[in-house]
Amino acid sequence: MRHKVAVIGGGFVGATTAQRIAETELADVVLVDIMEGIPQGKGLDILEACPITGSSSRIIGSNDMADIEGCQIVVMTAGLPRKPGMTREDLVRDNARIVGGVAEHIKRFAPDAMVIVVTNPLDIMTYLMFKKTGFAAHKVFGMAGVLDTARYRTFLSLELGIAPDDISAMVLGGHGDEMVPLVDCTTVSGIPIRQLLSEAVIGNIVQRTRKGGGEIVDLLKSGSAYYAPSAAAVQMVKAVLLDQKRLLPCSAHLTSQYGINDAYVGVPVVLGSNGVERIIELKLGQSDLDQLQKSAQIIQDNIGLLGL
Ligand code: LAC
Repeated sequence: MRHKVAVIGGGFVGATTAQRIAETELADVVLVDIMEGIPQGKGLDILEACPITGSSSRIIGSNDMADIEGCQIVVMTAGLPRKPGMTREDLVRDNARIVGGVAEHIKRFAPDAMVIVVTNPLDIMTYLMFKKTGFAAHKVFGMAGVLDTARYRTFLSLELGIAPDDISAMVLGGHGDEMVPLVDCTTVSGIPIRQLLSEAVIGNIVQRTRKGGGEIVDLLKSGSAYYAPSAAAVQMVKAVLLDQKRLLPCSAHLTSQYGINDAYVGVPVVLGSNGVERIIELKLGQSDLDQLQKSAQIIQDNIGLLGL
C-alpha cells in the first residue's frame, strides 16, 4: 500500500517536512497552502529531485484542502512564526484562527487521518485541533518534545565530544521556556549524565535547551527554525506509518496523568499505527513534577484565552 501524508503549510517547516518524507520514500505527499503557486512550485521542485535521490514518492502542491482526501496523516504546520522578542504565546490569536479553519477541512476531507500539530503555541494549538476536529485524542498529537530533546542531545554531544546518537534523553512539559529536561533520565550509552558532567554544566545546557527555539529566532531575525522541527515531525510520521512503537516525548491529551486534567502537554508516549497508543506515567522527582505541572498550568491559562 502507498502511504499518503498531507502537509498543511508551504512555508519552511512544511516544505522541509515534505522534502524529508519524499526523499526517504516514506509516503506520497500533498503540500497545501493558501498562497497560489507556492505549494505547486515547491512540490514540483521536490518531485524533480526524486530521480536524483532515487525515490518514487509522488508529490503535488495544492491550494485545495479537498486534495488531502485519503491521507493517513496530516502534518499541520501552517501559521505565523515568531519574530525576535516574541514568545510562542504571542501567536495564540492569529494561529488559532488558522488552526480552527484547517481543522474543519480535515474533519470533512480526511476524517480517518491522524493529525500531528506543529503550529505554535504548540500545546495550545494541538488542544484546539483536538477540539475542532472532534477526533479521538490518540489521533491528535503535537510535535515538540522530539525537537526539544534533539536540541538537548545536541548541546550535550557538543559538550561531551560524544556522538548525539549515544545520548538518550527526554524533555517533557509544554513547548515553551518552562519545558522540563529530565536530567535524572539522561544517559550516555547507559551511563548517567551526572557521572560525566558537573551540575553547573548540566544546568547551563538545560537553560540553553529551554531557549533553543528563541536562539534560532534571534539568529535568523525573521522566521524560526525548520531543519530540526521538520526532522522531528518526520520521525513521528515514520513511527506511525511503520507502526514502530517508538517511545517519544509528544504533546498528548492528559486526563489525570501527572495530576494534569484536560490539557495537551509533552509526556512520554508510545507512537505506532494507532497514534498515541500509550501514555507512560513516570515516577518523577518532586521538582520535575512541580515543573511539569507549572508548565501545564501556563498551557491551561492560554487555553482559557481561546474561549472554547
Ligand atoms: C522552535 C519553534 C519552531 O522551537 O517552536 O524552534
